[in-house]
Amino acid sequence: MPENDENLRAMVAKLKGEVERLRSVIEKGWSYQACDNLNQLFDAFIKTLTGVFPDCKPTFFLVDKANRSIYPYQDEFALAEGRGILWGEGIHGWVAANVEPLLVPDLSGDERFRSDLETPEGIDPATAVVVPIMYDRDILGVVALFGGEGRVPFDAYELEQLINLAYSFGISWHNLDSYLRSQQSLQKILKGLINAVDARYPYNVGHSQRVSGYCRAVAQRLGLGAEGREQAAMAGLLHDVGMLLVPAEILNKKDKLTVSEIREVQKHPRYSFEILKRIPDVEAFLSAIRHHHEWFSGEGYPDKIKGDKIPLFSRVIGICDAFDAMTSDRPFRSARTDKEALDELVRMRGRQFDPWVTDVFLKAYEDGKIISQEVLKAVDPYRSKVI
Ligand SMILES: [Fe+2]
Repeated sequence: MPENDENLRAMVAKLKGEVERLRSVIEKGWSYQACDNLNQLFDAFIKTLTGVFPDCKPTFFLVDKANRSIYPYQDEFALAEGRGILWGEGIHGWVAANVEPLLVPDLSGDERFRSDLETPEGIDPATAVVVPIMYDRDILGVVALFGGEGRVPFDAYELEQLINLAYSFGISWHNLDSYLRSQQSLQKILKGLINAVDARYPYNVGHSQRVSGYCRAVAQRLGLGAEGREQAAMAGLLHDVGMLLVPAEILNKKDKLTVSEIREVQKHPRYSFEILKRIPDVEAFLSAIRHHHEWFSGEGYPDKIKGDKIPLFSRVIGICDAFDAMTSDRPFRSARTDKEALDELVRMRGRQFDPWVTDVFLKAYEDGKIISQEVLKAVDPYRSKVI
């Protein structure tokens, strides 16, 4: 075969390999996007490594900057002493300390390798490649591939493959971690808002949490998926944050409210909307919060919309909110029984409340999915107020 043809074939084979590698990296990027927690992401990464390098054993370490060490993610590779590998220790530690990749075609000739510390189970390692997992200039972890006796030593091409996989994984890791951290701070802010509402309106303590639970139960009965159920629960939790802007003396007044005081209270859905509109991740159910006091007949507030024009979650909150309000003590009256409250829902079915959602709520109650204060008191009679 002429030399040129041979070169051409080799080039085509290399290009094919390159295309395959790029396709694999892109696909992995997509599969990482489906992960909603770090363990899931880490497992997907290990699965990717074993898929791309089926004849190798991967190891994956997370960086512990405070202790200048790395510790293994995989259970089967947990270190006996319960400590990590120090930076500079072994080939993993060398990569962590130097923040650069390391190709070790022959492990037996490398003094840095600590077989007692870094040998993965089920292999007698002969060759290795180790790469830092980075985001920007920050090292997040260290990944290595080990090949056993008889395997062709790792080469520069495989090193580059691992660098590429570690690169796309590092981005996904950073993004998911940032997202989870922002979610945590958001949850704290929202919890603070709910506590502030409770503090202004002691008769209402636990109302938002109970409405949230009822909304989740109704959303489940409506057949919504996990995301929809979560949104319904969050909308139920936050629907009354606007009460923060309603004067406390009106909220806690023991006598009948005057017309102007009623108008003041009726501003709270708009206030909730205004308070929450700048908070990320709340947009999906913001209008549901604004309209949770609309009536199916159009007699509600603040915008007097009716029927299907009212967002579904508003119709859900409307029923859950009314049920909890009726079954809770108020400064001017005692709580009604569950039976009385359910009868009232039926009486107002089709006028105040969406008939379909009312039926779903009644069914959920019948099935024991609505854990009302009365239900809880029956289980635990010493529990006078349920939060
Ligand atoms: Fe409300």
